[in-house]
Amino acid sequence: MSANRPAAVVVLAAGEGTRMKSATPKVLHEICGRTLVGHVVAASRELDPAHLVVVVGHAREQVAAHLAEVDANVRTAVQYEQNGTGHAVRMALEELGGELTGTVVVVCGDTPLLTGATLAQLTAAHEADGNAVTVLTAEVPDSTGYGRIIRDAATGAVTAIVEHKDATDAQRAILEINSGVFAFDGALLSEALGKVRTDNSQGEEYLTDVLEILREGGHRVGAAVGGDHREILGINNRVQLAQARALLNARLLERAMLAGVTVVDPASTFVDVSVTFGQDAIVHPGTQLLGATHLAENAEVGPNTRLKDTRVGAGARVDNTVADTAVIGAAATVGPFAYLRPGTNLGAKAKAGTYVEMKNATIGEGTKVPHLSYVGDATIGEYTNIGAASVFVNYDGEHKHHTVVGSHCKTGSDNMFVAPVTIGDGAYTAAGSVITKDVPPGALAVARGQQRNIEGWVARKRPGSAAAQAALSGAPERPDEA
Ligand code: UD1
Ligand code: CA
Repeated sequence: MSANRPAAVVVLAAGEGTRMKSATPKVLHEICGRTLVGHVVAASRELDPAHLVVVVGHAREQVAAHLAEVDANVRTAVQYEQNGTGHAVRMALEELGGELTGTVVVVCGDTPLLTGATLAQLTAAHEADGNAVTVLTAEVPDSTGYGRIIRDAATGAVTAIVEHKDATDAQRAILEINSGVFAFDGALLSEALGKVRTDNSQGEEYLTDVLEILREGGHRVGAAVGGDHREILGINNRVQLAQARALLNARLLERAMLAGVTVVDPASTFVDVSVTFGQDAIVHPGTQLLGATHLAENAEVGPNTRLKDTRVGAGARVDNTVADTAVIGAAATVGPFAYLRPGTNLGAKAKAGTYVEMKNATIGEGTKVPHLSYVGDATIGEYTNIGAASVFVNYDGEHKHHTVVGSHCKTGSDNMFVAPVTIGDGAYTAAGSVITKDVPPGALAVARGQQRNIEGWVARKRPGSAAAQAALSGAPERPDEA
């Protein structure tokens, strides 16, 4: 079944979402790196509609600005007062200049799990059956809060949708619910919307009443029963927000696993929609992969790692690490316990080891920064080794400065590189040096005080102490009491 290009998709997103109890409008809450309305817009786009209109109302400037960022071709229609879903669709049709010929699809902005494939199936079924309206329904384990699908007892045909608040006890027992997703004949929709009344418990124009109006007008009304009820989960509160996040996360991880990624513990692994993987990547427990993060083939990440907008090269190993906007080269090793900040560019086979922080730093192939160091605003060549506990002193209190270290250098432990400073290729520096001047290629730089030993100092200044006894005759009988 393939459907024609719909005349329009209308996304309803004008409501405040009071049940979220939030300063953020409901549809701007995020799951898996995308807002609720962003997910709905992305699924709607897959139908390639002639128009994609989002009805905005509550916090409309904020919502419209967000929409412009996620999809430049989205149109917005303003619903100044939230007088119901039917009224909202009326505002969208007005924005589009009245009547539309062809199929108009309506979706709610708070159903982020809905897929483009399901929308396509609905429109195809709608057009194949020649319906005036087709509602996407689902059987749910608990239908509380949803509109119930009323069917004719004899024929099974859909006759009406009754909102939870307006339903009788018998109707409330019905488990088949309105997903909030419809395909309409555009011309019949605008005609029927003119007849929707507000004599219901909420005093609103219900879109759902259009179904009964069309049926009574002698038009064909249909229902498409969706396969997976979890796909139409509507988010009204933060419990449902967490449920939707868990479901979408599981869906994304399943897709990755079926494409050849090992996810050791899906329950403790979290991914955004825009994360991509190469084959045989491995993700260990407690890992969050966010934004445009990419793991190349055979990359191994985690446990307990958070990567945002970070590219991990083929075969690289990243352990117990936090990275943001970093590039990690092929076969590089990072962590355990490293922090790579924006602008870190680690070459192939390079190493950022334990308790190492990097920022705005380009590290050449095979170069190692193994232990307890801060590398900020630096360029380091290839196959250089930076000694343990080194600091690239980049900030003079007013400005940041850059340090350059050449290739094949060996810098000593506990060095301070006071920027701006340049260490030439093949140079060495002595342990404990504070490097303030450039070091020529191949030189050894020593920049520390000379050691002097004051003989007999303990015997004179700490007579009788365990240290003094040890210095005289080896181990004391009993250590000093502290
Ligand atoms: C709605 C349906 C219900 C269905 C459920 C599915 C109606 C009357 N009820 O109920 O049958 O089972 O969705 O999740 O249609 N909105 C506007 N303007 C308004 C009112 C709502 O744009 O004036 C938007 C909201 O922002 C939201 C969507 O429409 O994105 C649905 O509104 P909501 O209040 O959540 O409706 P439900 O009570 O969930
Ligand atoms: Ca809802």
